[in-house]
Amino acid sequence: MKRALITGITGQDGRYLSEFLTGKDYQVFGVVRGQNNPKAELVLNENPSVELVDGDLRDLSSLIALVEQVQPDEVYNLGAMSFVQLSFTQPDLTAEITGLGVLRMLEAVRIVGGTQNNPVRFYQASSSEMFGKVRETPQNEMTPFHPRSPYGVAKVFGHNITVNYREAYGLHASSGILFNHESPRRGLEFVTRKITNSLARIKLGRQNQISLGNIDSARDWGFAGDYVEAMWLMLQQDEPDDYVVATGETHTVREFLDVAFRVAGYDDWKPYVRHDERFERPAEVDLLMGDASKAHSALGWKPKVSFEQLVQMMYENDLSEEQARTH
Ligand code: NAP
Ligand code: GDD
Repeated sequence: MKRALITGITGQDGRYLSEFLTGKDYQVFGVVRGQNNPKAELVLNENPSVELVDGDLRDLSSLIALVEQVQPDEVYNLGAMSFVQLSFTQPDLTAEITGLGVLRMLEAVRIVGGTQNNPVRFYQASSSEMFGKVRETPQNEMTPFHPRSPYGVAKVFGHNITVNYREAYGLHASSGILFNHESPRRGLEFVTRKITNSLARIKLGRQNQISLGNIDSARDWGFAGDYVEAMWLMLQQDEPDDYVVATGETHTVREFLDVAFRVAGYDDWKPYVRHDERFERPAEVDLLMGDASKAHSALGWKPKVSFEQLVQMMYENDLSEEQARTH
């Protein structure tokens, strides 16, 4: 049985990846931080075969102890402070976790190592946010980075240090440059889930309006369940490398609203959406659109869920979750 260690197991991607790897007969170990993390129970309810272990990306000794204890074949580093807006008000913490956390996890892998015949393989969750003020469209593995947020800057550090450990120490370290991916498990702070959750509440008469910031920005939105397969495929290759993972389509937040409200049976979303400058960012990423042809040809990976299917899946899930609530 292969052994996988996942940081960020309580997040959207960690929950999908743990189920995916269990389905491939892995023993999955998930890193949980904090004294009594309420999301740990959620993970165990969804996947009782996961073994939870304590650790924090801010604490190198905890990560070394974890790699020694678990002796993983594969490490998936998904843990991060991942909310771009919050990174503007907590830049120091973001750099600590999202940036230096990668270095610490790499150091733990380098120091503990695994056997010569079976070195630990490492996956880094890089991000399309690194392209920021994009130099070309679509963006591919060769497109220069121009991050627009402390989160993006921290991710560039995480990406570059992963490449450096691969080149300097020969680690089997790969980096997935993933474009936005969403699901019913997406955090409520992100714009897609904020919209589908609020819309479900509007439909049930529990909310009147949605307050949003810039709705002209465009993102390449895919389904998280599809994207975790690409992470695993990267670690099955003989050689480590970097891959863009994306759908190749881009849609504005306005278009997301169009589809979501149509699915919910409304002709027009404008009466329900108000602008609130508190959700604007000091610097914005206007447009992201990925070229995943390398992942298609080298990994055989392709997304399965379309934009419309994704929006519908999220709205329908939020509607049934809201209906199940008594208040
Ligand atoms: P998410 O839902 O926000 O999950 C983040 C995870 O990181 C949570 O499990 C959180 O655990 C953990 N974490 C936070 N601080 C930590 C610390 N100090 N030590 C250990 N773990 C910590 O994010 P996601 O959407 O699943 O994304 C997974 C990864 O992919 C992240 O690195 C994100 O930046 C990156 N990414 C995401 C996307 C996307 O569109 N979703 C695109 C590109 C890249 P707690 O329960 O303790 O908070
Ligand atoms: N969150 C949020 N809330 N975003 C809003 C809102 C709002 O009320 N109104 C407009 N937006 C706009 C943001 O300004 C941004 O242009 C877009 O909606 C998407 O915002 P998010 O859903 O917060 O995602 P993100 O693109 O900033 O970051 C996500 O994707 C990155 C990959 O490109 C996160 O998952 C990052 O962790 C990830 O790396």
